[in-house]
Amino acid sequence: MKHAIIGASGQVGGYLYRTLTHLGEEVEGTYYRHPDPSLSELDIIREADVRKFFDALRPDVVWIPAAMANVDQCQNEPGESYRYNVLGPRFVAESAVKRGGRVVFFSTDYVFDGLNGPYTEEARVRPIQVYGEHKAEIEGFLLREIPHTLIIRPAWIYSRDENPRNFVYRVLEQLRAGKPIKAVTDQVNTPTPSEGLVKIAWQAVQDGFEGVLHIAGPERLTRYELTRRIARAFGYDANLVEPVTTESFHLPAPRPSNGGLITQYEAYRMEPGRDFSPIF
Ligand SMILES: NC(=O)c1ccc[n+]([C@@H]2O[C@H](COP(=O)([O-])OP(=O)(O)OC[C@H]3O[C@@H](n4cnc5c(N)ncnc54)[C@H](OP(=O)(O)O)[C@@H]3O)[C@@H](O)[C@H]2O)c1
Repeated sequence: MKHAIIGASGQVGGYLYRTLTHLGEEVEGTYYRHPDPSLSELDIIREADVRKFFDALRPDVVWIPAAMANVDQCQNEPGESYRYNVLGPRFVAESAVKRGGRVVFFSTDYVFDGLNGPYTEEARVRPIQVYGEHKAEIEGFLLREIPHTLIIRPAWIYSRDENPRNFVYRVLEQLRAGKPIKAVTDQVNTPTPSEGLVKIAWQAVQDGFEGVLHIAGPERLTRYELTRRIARAFGYDANLVEPVTTESFHLPAPRPSNGGLITQYEAYRMEPGRDFSPIF
C-alpha cells in the first residue's frame, strides 16, 4: 500500500512514519515548520499545493496527524486554529478522496467536556474550548462528506522521543536540571503511548474499520500521578513533583477534568506487552 502522512515531522506522524517504513510499506511524509530531508514540505492550508501533492502521489491511505495541537494557542488565535484544524484537513481529505485515497484523521478526547469520563465512541461530543470545537467540526465534516473515513481519537499522547513535543521528554528535562515540576491533581485522563496508538491504528486500517475509534492507554491517571511515575521510572525523586490545581496555571483554555477515553471495540483495546512496552 502507498501511504501519505501529512504532518510526519510531529510526534505521532513521526512515529507512524518510522513504523510503516520499518514494516516495508511505501510511505511519503510531509513537514511544515520543522524541515526534515526525508520528508516533503506541505502547508495544508494552501489548497493548490495540496492538490498538486496528491496529483503526484495518489496514495491509498492518507494519514492526517497534522494539526495546530497547542490548546492554549488555539484559544488565543481561534482564526489560525480554524485554518489549521478545520480548513487544512478539509482540503487534504477532499483532495485525497478524489484521487482514490482513504482518509485517517487524528482527532482528540478534547471533543468531550470531561464531566464524566471515560468516554466511549457513542458519547455525545461537547467541547469546552476552541481546539475541541474545531476538532469536533472537522470530525462532523469528514464523517458526512468523506466516504470511508477513519477518525482516531487518542488522549494525552506520550512517547520515548527526545523531542520537546513529548510530555515525557519535557518532564525529564526539568528533572535532569534538578528543577521541581508542578503537575495538576484535578485532571484525569488515559495517557496514550504513541507506540500502541500507531500499532492499533494500523491494525484498524488493515481491517477496513470506518467511523470513530478511540485508541487510548489502559489506565486513568491524573497528570500528577503520571508525572510521578515518569520521575520514578527514570530514577528521579518523585517528590520533585509538586501537586497543584489547574486553576493555579491561569491557562487561556479550559481543560476537561474528569476525562479519558475507552473503546467499545475490544479488538482495539490497548494492552501493555502486546501493544506497547510500558516506560513507567
Ligand atoms: N499530543 C497529544 O497529547 C494529543 C492528544 C490528543 C490528540 N492529539 C492529536 O493527535 C494529532 C497528532 O498530535 P501530535 O502530538 O503528533 O502533534 P505535533 O507533534 O504538534 O505535530 C503536528 C504536525 O502537524 C504539522 N502541521 C502543523 N501545521 C501544519 C500545516 N499548516 N500544514 C502542514 N502540516 C502542519 C506539523 O509540522 P511541523 O512540525 O513541521 O511544523 C507536525 O508535523 C493531532 O491532530 C492532535 O490534535 C494529540
